[in-house]
Amino acid sequence: MKYIKKTTAFLLAALVLVLSGCGAVDTENKTDKKSGKAQKHKVIIDTDTGSDDAAALVLAATSDKLDILGVTVLYGNVSTDQAAENALMTLEVCGVEAPVYIGAEKPLKKKRKEMISVHGKDGMGDQDLIHPKRKAEDGGAVDFILDTIKSDPGEVEIIAFGPLTNIALAFKKDPDTMKLCKRIWVMGTAGFGAGNATPVAEFNVYNDAEAYDTVLSSELPMTILGLDMVLNEEAKLTKDDLNKMAQGNKKGVYMSKAFTKLFEFYQKSEDNMLLPDPMAAACMIWPDMMLETKSCYGAACVGNDDAYGQVVLYQKGSVYEAMPKIGAYNHKVVTKIDAELFKDNFMSVMTE
Ligand code: BDR
Ligand code: CA
Repeated sequence: MKYIKKTTAFLLAALVLVLSGCGAVDTENKTDKKSGKAQKHKVIIDTDTGSDDAAALVLAATSDKLDILGVTVLYGNVSTDQAAENALMTLEVCGVEAPVYIGAEKPLKKKRKEMISVHGKDGMGDQDLIHPKRKAEDGGAVDFILDTIKSDPGEVEIIAFGPLTNIALAFKKDPDTMKLCKRIWVMGTAGFGAGNATPVAEFNVYNDAEAYDTVLSSELPMTILGLDMVLNEEAKLTKDDLNKMAQGNKKGVYMSKAFTKLFEFYQKSEDNMLLPDPMAAACMIWPDMMLETKSCYGAACVGNDDAYGQVVLYQKGSVYEAMPKIGAYNHKVVTKIDAELFKDNFMSVMTE
């Protein structure tokens, strides 16, 4: 009897979780029918390569769970050309020859204000690290994204570490092809917390809220890692971690130098540093790290006011009295993260 009561309670709890759109994440790739091995994520990485983007690239490039089909770059932390140099150099350090494609130099509509990069003028700590042997490919980022998705419908994923301008341009050029993209993963939005570009807007959305709006309203499945998860104390990089990286492997030494300016920036207020883009990459590589996600519909504020770049997250299962007209709950927003596991994995890649 006791057992039946317990089982019933468990089933009821599970049902409540499912109905409320809140639960553990099922983003582990399927297994290959022939080999029985877990399929790799076939991924395009879209980045505005500042130093934490570079660290995310290192995680991705050294992972056996990802097959990097190409890297597309754009403005954001640095200029587009500088982002390409930084991506090429980082791939070289990892011994990976994925092609790099040049993308957007400015947002869809907003006039781009040159923001002082917190990553250093070159985005990589101003350590004169950037002398890549390879060059970016001919042909643009948008066509590369579309051609790649078209050639393997339903299999290609995109992970974005910067503004979503390249992806929005691809949607505008060929929405039917973009609907064949398997999933879009992003580091962006403030999640359920505060922003860093303004009190309500996170940097990547603030750079081009119109682009975010285009992608959010596309109804494609998205996994969103917001700034609130990144602020977890356990996930921050300390001076001690930085020293360990400097004594670590080639990638660790490289990244410890690239983090010079970013660490200086954070030291103005605290003694450690955030790792937003690496945490987004880690969610794809080690999905067990995502302890909870919520099914939401996210809408980006594009008005010419103080709310520009804010993303409002409507949660599945919540009742809103204003009855706003919203789209499908196709945005999985990460709401609980195993920050300790993230930092352990991050440090292993940089030191072992
Ligand atoms: C985002 O802003 C950039 O500085 C980082 O690279 C990251 O993508 C965090 O808000
Ligand atoms: Ca970035």
